Amino acid sequence: MGRGIGTRLVAGGNNVTVLDNDPEQAKQLAEELRAGATEGAAAEGGAANDPIDGDVLVLAVWYEPARAVIEQYGDQLEGKVVIDITNPVNVETFDGLVTPADSSAAEELAKLAPAGAKVVKAFNTTFAGTLVAGQVGGQALDVLIAGDDDEAKRTVAELARAGGLNPIDAGSLKRARACRPAPARASIHPHGHRPLGLRGA
Ligand SMILES: NC(=O)c1ccc[n+]([C@@H]2O[C@H](COP(=O)([O-])OP(=O)(O)OC[C@H]3O[C@@H](n4cnc5c(N)ncnc54)[C@H](OP(=O)(O)O)[C@@H]3O)[C@@H](O)[C@H]2O)c1
Repeated sequence: MGRGIGTRLVAGGNNVTVLDNDPEQAKQLAEELRAGATEGAAAEGGAANDPIDGDVLVLAVWYEPARAVIEQYGDQLEGKVVIDITNPVNVETFDGLVTPADSSAAEELAKLAPAGAKVVKAFNTTFAGTLVAGQVGGQALDVLIAGDDDEAKRTVAELARAGGLNPIDAGSLKRARACRPAPARASIHPHGHRPLGLRGA
C-alpha cells in the first residue's frame, strides 16, 4: 500500500518520504516513486523512527504496527493529518476483526493519538495494485474519506484528486465502521484453462 499510495501522491506533485523498518528498502521504493513522479515532486527514503517532516502521515502498515507508530511518535503528531488505511483483520485466524464491535480501527487509533492529531480514514477500500495503476477499466478509483475534522478531510481529498482518484466524503470518523472493502468471491477452475474469476458479492 505504501507503493500504491506513494505512486498516487507523487503523480499528484507531492513530496513523499517513505519510512520503513529497513531504510534501504525505503530508499529503493523512493527511487522507484521518483521515476513516476510529476515534475517537481520528490521522494526520499528513511528509517521507521525518523522524525516526521510533512503535514500528513499515512500509516501504510497493519493495525498493530499502526498503534505502535502512533505511540512512538506521540506529541510529534500534534497538528498533523494522520491517515489510517488499515483493515484490522485478525491475522492469526482471519475470521474477524481485532477492534471492538462498537468501534473501528480509526477511532481506536484516534484515542491513542494526541488530541491535536487529525485522524482520517481513507484508502482502506482500494487495492494496492489498482492504486499503482491509478484506475480500473478506465475508471478513477473511489476513495472513501471519514473523519471529524473537515479541513483534514479536505486535505486528504485534495491529495487523492491530484493523484487522479475520486474522493468521496463518507462522514464523521464513526463512519469508518462502515468503510470496509466489499467481500470478493473467487471461483477457481482447477484444470487451469480459465482465469481466476473474482466477483464483488
Ligand atoms: N494490500 C491491499 O490491497 C490493501 C488494501 C486496503 C487496505 N490495506 C491495509 O493496508 C495496510 C498495509 O497493507 P499492505 O498490504 O501494504 O501490507 P505489507 O505489504 O505487509 O506492507 C506493510 C509494510 O509496513 C512495514 N512496517 C511495519 N512496521 C513498520 C513501522 N513501524 N514503520 C514503518 N514501516 C513498517 C513493513 O515492513 P517489514 O516487512 O519490514 O515489517 C511492510 O513493508 C494494512 O493495514 C491493510 O489492512 C491493504
